Amino acid sequence: MLLPDQPGVQVRKCLAELARYVAAKDTGWSSSDKLAEMTEENARYVIATETSPDGSTARVGFLYFQFTMEDTCDTEDEESDDNSGSDQERQIPVVYCYELQLEEAFQRRGLGTYFMNLLEELGTRYHMKKSMLTVFKSNTTAIAFYTKRGYVVDGISPSNHLPPRRAARISYEILSKSL
Ligand SMILES: CC(C)(COP(=O)(O)OP(=O)(O)OC[C@H]1O[C@@H](n2cnc3c(N)ncnc32)[C@H](O)[C@@H]1OP(=O)(O)O)[C@@H](O)C(=O)NCCC(=O)NCCS
Repeated sequence: MLLPDQPGVQVRKCLAELARYVAAKDTGWSSSDKLAEMTEENARYVIATETSPDGSTARVGFLYFQFTMEDTCDTEDEESDDNSGSDQERQIPVVYCYELQLEEAFQRRGLGTYFMNLLEELGTRYHMKKSMLTVFKSNTTAIAFYTKRGYVVDGISPSNHLPPRRAARISYEILSKSL
């Protein structure tokens, strides 16, 4: 696991891919903000590399996550945590997957599953209550991938707490899985 001082070429390429998804303005996408987020002190990376016969290595994908606190509106979390504040203040410890990006040639070969297994194992080991992530509604491939893994639309996702017409204008969902 390493935190790159400078996000490399692979990261930039993946960011360009990601930015292509962001047609809607509701995410407030900014490349510089994203790079700042990706180099935060709490950012943790697992990077997959491929080694060529000549010994050179190339990055083929990465998982970027953080251990963090996240809002919750789940009843069981209220009961099990010492969070006695108002609705807005209830938070739980989660492992949050900020990015999971694989080069196209390395997709559908079980690498994403490997990364997510690792993420969830780390979350469990460090007593996080959930594994969480944000996914664009248009990214049906990723949604199929996460759904197969047991992820569901979280209670704090726009579609679960905004009026339907407002939620329909939001381009993303927040998914989670209890650990
Ligand atoms: C989404 C992503 C991380 C999945 O990783 P992956 O290594 O390709 O997925 P896996 O090989 O582990 O697939 C596991 C299961 O997920 C589902 N799945 C994965 N890709 C799928 C696809 N393109 N269409 C439908 N289901 C898919 C399948 O059920 C698959 O099982 P199967 O291959 O036995 O049928 C990867 O495709 C990727 O990096 N995509 C581009 C970036 C991206 O969208 N990241 C997510 C941002 S939130």
